[in-house]
Amino acid sequence: MDRVLLLVPSASYRASDFLDAASALALQVIVGCDEELVSAGASLKLALDDPDRAADAIVALDSLTPLDAVVAVDDQGTLVAARAAERLGLRANRPEAVGAARDKLRMRTLLSRAEVPQPAFAALSRNARAAELASLVGRVALPWVVKPTSLSASQGVIRADSVPEALAAVDRVRSIAANAGVASDQPLLIEEFVHGPEVAVEGVLTGGELTVLAVFDKPDPLDGPFFEETLYVTPSRLEASELQTVTSATQAATRALGLTEGPVHAELRVRDGRAWVIEVAARSIGGLCSRTLEFGTGVSLEYLILAHALGRPVASLRRADRAAGVLMLPIGTGGVLAEVTGRERALQVPGVVGLELTIAPGRRLVPLPEGNRYLGFVFARGDNPAAVEASLRAALGELEVRLEREGPLKHRLAGR
Ligand SMILES: Nc1ncnc2c1ncn2[C@@H]1O[C@H](COP(=O)(O)OP(=O)(O)OP(=O)(O)O)[C@@H](O)[C@H]1O
Ligand SMILES: [Mg+2]
Repeated sequence: MDRVLLLVPSASYRASDFLDAASALALQVIVGCDEELVSAGASLKLALDDPDRAADAIVALDSLTPLDAVVAVDDQGTLVAARAAERLGLRANRPEAVGAARDKLRMRTLLSRAEVPQPAFAALSRNARAAELASLVGRVALPWVVKPTSLSASQGVIRADSVPEALAAVDRVRSIAANAGVASDQPLLIEEFVHGPEVAVEGVLTGGELTVLAVFDKPDPLDGPFFEETLYVTPSRLEASELQTVTSATQAATRALGLTEGPVHAELRVRDGRAWVIEVAARSIGGLCSRTLEFGTGVSLEYLILAHALGRPVASLRRADRAAGVLMLPIGTGGVLAEVTGRERALQVPGVVGLELTIAPGRRLVPLPEGNRYLGFVFARGDNPAAVEASLRAALGELEVRLEREGPLKHRLAGR
């Protein structure tokens, strides 16, 4: 029986989907988590924010109970997995490549060297003032996106249309990064804002070769100033030639970073028939979004990832034929969640196949750019992407968020 160490940060949405896949593959699982777990299964507390220390602990574990794979379920564990896998001689990306994918400035630098199409960019000192910003106008065309180099879920990502707006954005991003524990010597990043529709590519790398598993359209415009993701629908409705450039740019980006094995999740914008790389991460799609995907005869993305890590053959990497999509419920107003109403009606919308809330009543909702949690997910399937999109929008129209006391008592999720 193969034994897998799954790196599951305590804040992860993915634990149960990976555990289900591991049980479908009849694997023995040890869960590595940044907090002590009280569950029945085997587990190990690991400092996921200290890759060297965590890798030492994993090597020590392996000497007692040999591991066949170390798999990070999302971003936070990828560097630990790569360090540990390298020392244990397991199939994985090189740590430097994973490190580059985790650091948006290093990623931009490597993509630029390899001439992969991407926005113009510049590093910015954390205390940048007006003069430093004004000096960038000639190098990076406005509008800009200001962002931290190491956060995710669009936390701290802000569009600025002018130097004064950028100055305000820098202040805000700096405090978001500090609150998220980002070291104060890390720079910020300024990028040209790339117009055009955005897609997400889900893929898997084997020996450096990319297999695209799915391309998602993001049909709600992502024009800022904050970049809240709502709809993901697959298959993409882009032209075949546009999809081709999306695939080649993703492959070029993974090569430029040196990624060779396992899942990749890339975001690109399509402008003037070309694909522009927003980012490439060495992990699979976030939140619960992977539940939209099914391969061959009903195999999950998590199953594919675990099978790949173990070098086991998989019957088919072909996505099941029906169109599918997910709606990430937007957080419009901050406050303490009382309840989300209309769930039964949303579930009755034709095409809707699931709804899961991921913030419990009594917990605080924090909108972007400060927030980084998803309120919940609605899943739909249909005969084509337009039908799926319509089902998700109809479901959104049925849902209402009720906050406790402070703020407006009720606000509709749709039509904000
Ligand atoms: N240069 C850019 N041009 C256009 N849009 C951008 C740019 N940079 C970021 N965005 C928008 O902001 C979103 C989040 O940015 P980015 O992917 O860099 O941050 P992130 O926090 O890693 O996001 P996530 O974890 O959600 O993938 C992108 O998906 C895109 O919609
Ligand atoms: Mg991103």
